[in-house]
This record gives sequence, structure tokens and C-alpha cells, in this order.
Amino acid sequence: MKERIVDGEERYEDEMLDHIRPSSLKEYIGQKDAKENIEVFIKAAKMREEPLDHVLLYGPPGLGKTTLAFIIANELGSNIKTASGPSIEKPGDLAAILSNLEPGDVLFVDEIHRMPRIVEEILYPAMEDFTLDIMVGSEGNTRSIKIDLPPFTLVGATTRAGDLSSPLRDRFGIISKLQYYSVEELQAIVVRTSKVLGMPIDKDAAIELATRSRGTPRIANRLFKRVRDFALVEERESIDLETTKKALERLKVDASGLDEMDQLLRAIIERFNGGPVGIEAVASSIGEEVGTILDVYEPYLLQSGFLKRTPRGRMVTPKAYEHLHIDYQNNLFQGESE
Ligand code: ADE
Repeated sequence: MKERIVDGEERYEDEMLDHIRPSSLKEYIGQKDAKENIEVFIKAAKMREEPLDHVLLYGPPGLGKTTLAFIIANELGSNIKTASGPSIEKPGDLAAILSNLEPGDVLFVDEIHRMPRIVEEILYPAMEDFTLDIMVGSEGNTRSIKIDLPPFTLVGATTRAGDLSSPLRDRFGIISKLQYYSVEELQAIVVRTSKVLGMPIDKDAAIELATRSRGTPRIANRLFKRVRDFALVEERESIDLETTKKALERLKVDASGLDEMDQLLRAIIERFNGGPVGIEAVASSIGEEVGTILDVYEPYLLQSGFLKRTPRGRMVTPKAYEHLHIDYQNNLFQGESE
């Protein structure tokens, strides 16, 4: 995938933002429902002196699933061990991770939908009864042995809950869907980041950044860092609206945070007459993977009303035409006359 400043995918530079991550639920902005529920479940688990039930966090990239997993561990007063679905290739890899857990640990598995099925099967008894069923011995002489595991909490994160097998999904007691953030919430996140990094930002500048971040804190924080660079070089004491606008223009982030890759909309209008069109055709026309479109672009475009799903495929909405300054009626007419 082409490097873009407004996609939600994690990048190396985002890791450098790790220290600005909130570490408690109190500091975590937005996701009111998920936060309130998790708070209750954590309290109850602590009162019962039992591990928290397994938690599945799902939603588009960049909304704070990893941050929330770390906060859960922190609030429980537990250690966290992390792994990612695709990196656990063999049952033995997972067995090694599980047998190294300490009582009460949180095991965070990112992209859990990408774990191979044979690995997943090891996880079922581990999640249900804290036991590890493994096969030992060599060919023709194998037997299964059970090993007790310490009680632990699995926190799984996925961009696509639908890709999780139902036996795995059913083993999570707590399932939380993260939502895109409102402009007000993103504004608060930007202001928080500016305080942590010691570079003040004017209110109107914070709103401008928030508006262009596609509902995604990771994008807001990334844009903040870039705008801060412009302000620093121009020797400003704080980030003002003018610098923000100029920086964003230079970064080619347009008014709603749609950059050149969101030309997906433009491609559908120009090459497919606005749709309906199948996702595969769109993907190949812009040279992007279907998975990236489904996980990264489409959820935002659907939620903000730029794109519609119909039984015959994706359709661009009048709002998208307006946003791109393309004449809706005129375009329809041209389409019909071809
Ligand atoms: N940084 C990234 N996501 C955040 C959130 N939800 N609240 C506060 N700071 C954040």
C-alpha cells in the first residue's frame, strides 16, 4: 500500500507516539459505551478476584484498540504480553506463548482474525478452561497431553469481526465495537497530545485538524506531529490556524481528510459512472488490495455518507459529488448518453 498520511494503518512513526498514549480509562477520550462497560467488568472481576473475561475489540484501524488493551491491563494491575495473529504460525508458537503466561496476565493478540485455524484450535481449551491440549510424540506414536495454564485474559483485536470463526468469537465474554470519533473527541485528543508534547495549539487549529482526521485518533496525532514541524520551523510559540491550514495543504490533506488515495470516490465516478460497481473492479482500477479497501477506506466512506452499498455494488452518493465539486446531474446525464 502506498504511504499516506491519512490512512489508519499503523506505521513505524506511530510507535514513537507510544508515550503519548493514555494509560488509564479516565484519560482515554471517546468510545463512551465500550469504556463504560469495560470499566464495570474490570471492577467486577477485581471484586471477585477472578481474571477479566476475554475481550474482543473490533473496528477499523487507528481507533485505539491496542491503546485500550494496554489500558485494560493497567487498570487490572496486570502485565501484558503481546503477539499478532499472523506471527503465530504454528500451534507450538502459541503453546510457547501460553505456557509463559503468569497468573492474571493479559495476552493481547492483534489481528487475531489472521491466526491460522490449527493455531486457533489450541486457543479454544486455553480460553475456556485454561488448559493446553498438545500432541506429543512422533509419527505413529502421538498422544495428547493436558497442561494447566494460569488464569489469564485474552484481549483480541481485529478490523473484521466477520472474519473470525464463530467458535473463536463465542469464547469472548466481552465484545466491543470501536466507533469513529466525533470532531469534538478528536479535538480533545489533539489538545491532549499537544499538552503531552509541550506544543500548544489554538482551539480553531485543533478543530481544523480534528475535522480532517477521518474520525481516527491515529491520523489526528500523525497530522499533529507534521503540523508541529511546520510551526517549529517557522519559530511559532503555538500552532495557529494559518500554519495548520498551510501545513495540511502542503501535505495534500483536503477538507474532510480525504487525500489522493481516497480518490476511490473519484475513480468510481469517472470510471464507473458513480456505480453500482463491484469492489474487485474498483480495487483493480486504483491498484489497491480489496482487503485494504474493505478495512481502511470503506468503513469511513460508508459512515460519512460518501458511499453506499447496494445489492448491485458500491455507489457514490450525491454528497460525494458535492464534496468533489462534480456536478451530479450533469454526470448522470453524460453517463446515460454514452
Ligand atoms: N490517543 C489516541 N487515542 C486516544 C484516545 N481515545 N484518548 C486519548 N488519547 C488518545
